[in-house]
Amino acid sequence: MKIAVTAASGGLATATMKHLINEIGTEDLCAVARSPEKVKIPRIETRHGDYQTIKELTKAFSGIDTVVMISAPVGDWDRVTMHQNVITAAKLADVRKLLYTSIIGNGKEKDTWFWQTQQVNRQAEIDLQESGLQWIVARNGLYLEKDLHHIVQAKDIGVYKNIAGNGKTGYITVDELAYATAKLAISDSSNGQILNLVGDTLTQAQLVNLTNQVFGIDIRYESITDEENIAELMKDPNISVRGEKVAKMLAGCFQAVRVGAFDVKSDYKRAAGRAVKPTLQMIQEQRDAMRG
Ligand SMILES: NC(=O)c1ccc[n+]([C@@H]2O[C@H](COP(=O)([O-])OP(=O)(O)OC[C@H]3O[C@@H](n4cnc5c(N)ncnc54)[C@H](OP(=O)(O)O)[C@@H]3O)[C@@H](O)[C@H]2O)c1
Repeated sequence: MKIAVTAASGGLATATMKHLINEIGTEDLCAVARSPEKVKIPRIETRHGDYQTIKELTKAFSGIDTVVMISAPVGDWDRVTMHQNVITAAKLADVRKLLYTSIIGNGKEKDTWFWQTQQVNRQAEIDLQESGLQWIVARNGLYLEKDLHHIVQAKDIGVYKNIAGNGKTGYITVDELAYATAKLAISDSSNGQILNLVGDTLTQAQLVNLTNQVFGIDIRYESITDEENIAELMKDPNISVRGEKVAKMLAGCFQAVRVGAFDVKSDYKRAAGRAVKPTLQMIQEQRDAMRG
């Protein structure tokens, strides 16, 4: 039973392949990447697969039983078509099962700046369910790493600001997501299901407090307005170069938290066969990784 992971040079794919190696070894694993030379896992088969090209993807999926389709990055390209291309290629190559890594959301995000992005994820879920393939949708919670980094960076000014207010969500590390994704890929017991992969539900203030505790710092959380948030984000050259649309999408994630759209019930244990790590433990692991 050969498993292929797409977007294989990326962070989630790399972590998922590490866990898959623990489960099935290297022989039956295949990394499908737009840039195969960037795949970081040694001694596994790599194949060329760009989400823009059905023909190339179909070749890449030859002899594959299960495809883990990592969602395409947000940008100025047609992500709906990209996901459709992967699904079409999987069907043409006689793949049996496809697992798609989506994003959590209970629908309340409809009135946020995140909705446009979310619609792409939901369309991919629909296209997959209508494909005739065996399927699993793993809806991922927000990456803990990214926001932890921003909170720790805020130690110089002593205040961490965003627009989430008292909204709650369950942060999760890429490694925890990858562990559950690997388990879902190798077992058929969750086929035909949409599963939320999230950690303990927390407010931003609670997340900041846990971070303070683990890092021995003293930061407070402050809620700001949407306009202030966009102005802050646009000060970051990595964001401003991609335009205000991207800044609004990023801010939209926190609007979604604020309105309760990302406060979803966790299916982690069902997916992974064990409970998700407590947020405190995940923060401690990130601290240890940062300190090398
Ligand atoms: N849950 C969250 O908080 C969260 C946060 C950020 C993103 N996401 C979503 O989760 C996905 C995976 O995250 P990640 O951390 O693994 O992202 P990442 O490390 O940035 O990796 C993105 C991957 O997408 C690949 N890619 C880009 N365009 C492609 C194309 N046309 N065809 C095939 N592959 C292509 C990149 O390949 P190259 O190396 O060739 O560029 C790279 O391997 C993201 O793409 C995004 O949709 C979720």
